[in-house]
Amino acid sequence: MSLLDIHVLGSPILRQVTQPVEAVTDEHRQLIDDMVETMYAAKGIGLAAPQVGRSERIAVIDVDDGKGPFAIINPEILLSEGRQKNEEGCLSIPDVYADVERAWTVTVRALDRDGNPFEITGEDLLSRCLLHEIDHLHGKLFLDHLSLLKRRSAMSKWAKVKEQFPDLVRKLSPGEVATHHHRDEEL
Ligand code: NI
Repeated sequence: MSLLDIHVLGSPILRQVTQPVEAVTDEHRQLIDDMVETMYAAKGIGLAAPQVGRSERIAVIDVDDGKGPFAIINPEILLSEGRQKNEEGCLSIPDVYADVERAWTVTVRALDRDGNPFEITGEDLLSRCLLHEIDHLHGKLFLDHLSLLKRRSAMSKWAKVKEQFPDLVRKLSPGEVATHHHRDEEL
């Protein structure tokens, strides 16, 4: 497995719509393994392929609820109900957080890493994470859910943070791998 570079806000691939996976291959499974390793190293709870510079419709999730890590390939939202508003962040927009309204519960159909269809229903944090990652697969970021004022405030914070990433990629150091916790960043 290997750590992948994470593209940050401003990298055009984050705004591209991904391509559905036609058949799940060993190459996709390798990508999934690398994405999981990268997600843990970055202390995230979810990571989508565009964030690592790829255009496949794949995301990985582990909200530390005993269900993860798992991949969702070609996910579709079957049902979403209720509302919640909680703080959200993104591994591609480090150090920027804002309250985002999401459905309280969501049911998603996807393919797993073996190419078998499955359905998953998540509430609360898992619902938020599923919706956040599915947004990524359609070129959408949590900032897009904010009011103009809140978005402006997030962007002014980002204006300072982004100076750390002149190449629009975030390289994880091996030291970060050793001390992984879940849940810190991508809520
Ligand atoms: Ni994100």
